[in-house]
Amino acid sequence: MWLLVSTLRHIAIAEAKLYKAQALTLSTNGCDASILVDPIEGNVSSEMASIRNFGIRKRELISIVKSMVEAACPQQVSCADILILAAREAVAMSGGPHIEVPLGRKDSFTAPSYQQADAWIPPATTGVEDMLHIFTSKGMTIQESVALIGAHTLGVTHCASILNRLYKAEGDKAHQEMEPGYEAFLMLNCPEWSLTSNISFVLNDPTALIFDNLYYKNAMGGRGVLRIDAEMVSDPRTAQIVKHFASDRDDFFCAFSSAFVKLSTSGSLNQGVIRKRCNVLD
Ligand code: HEM
Repeated sequence: MWLLVSTLRHIAIAEAKLYKAQALTLSTNGCDASILVDPIEGNVSSEMASIRNFGIRKRELISIVKSMVEAACPQQVSCADILILAAREAVAMSGGPHIEVPLGRKDSFTAPSYQQADAWIPPATTGVEDMLHIFTSKGMTIQESVALIGAHTLGVTHCASILNRLYKAEGDKAHQEMEPGYEAFLMLNCPEWSLTSNISFVLNDPTALIFDNLYYKNAMGGRGVLRIDAEMVSDPRTAQIVKHFASDRDDFFCAFSSAFVKLSTSGSLNQGVIRKRCNVLD
């Protein structure tokens, strides 16, 4: 067991944000580990082939943990539960709240296709309206929705995800105001015609390995990376909440924890299987 805990912790430290927690929370069927299924397995073309899941990495680490768990207690712990625990560890190890998550999920029998993922997972150009629609339909309050996006306190955004925002003025630019110095920085780091925009990236906030509330302060200073980060600052439904979380880290942690639990249980499967391996369907 110590080896398992240490591997989970290692994952948490090394990746510090795991695959975006977004992957598991916004995974098409809720948290059923379908995100872990390899893109091509026989004739299955899974949701990982979707462009919307761009940037999701380190899935193989979950498979390593799974094989250790299987060796100790075969067919007892689902990939979905391992995924949730790893995400929970990643948040805690990077300085965020320690979240008690209910366990007992089952894994999906099937992997949603990339077409389904394309339809359900929000694109990088998503604004506040669509974000609130997605999260409130999963039972979140507006405050919890704003807290969830606070996960962007961790990790990076690849240039490919912001080229539209930087050069094509998608959506209502008025709500996405950027501090001019920061805009120039992003344009310098992410040139429009670069061949490496799938590889090059910018930090989501200056302390991208630490789960803190600097994300909100940063966004309020006009340095939100994604459209959603910038729009939440000025949208009347979210602006006051952003301001509040920027000044009260504990309230942010509290709202994030309750939203994380809600999301990790939303649509989660009591029916299903416990897969032997996470990256292939049994
Ligand atoms: C409407 C909602 C959301 C949208 C549109 C969105 C969009 C994105 C995009 C486009 C990226 C950058 C991907 C890349 O270029 O590599 C990203 C990164 C990230 N997102 Fe979100 N996201 C949303 C919600 C969430 C939620 C709910 C969480 C977690 C609870 C989350 C956690 C993260 C993390 C940790 C990263 C950094 C990943 C890394 O470093 O690899 N996001 N998000």
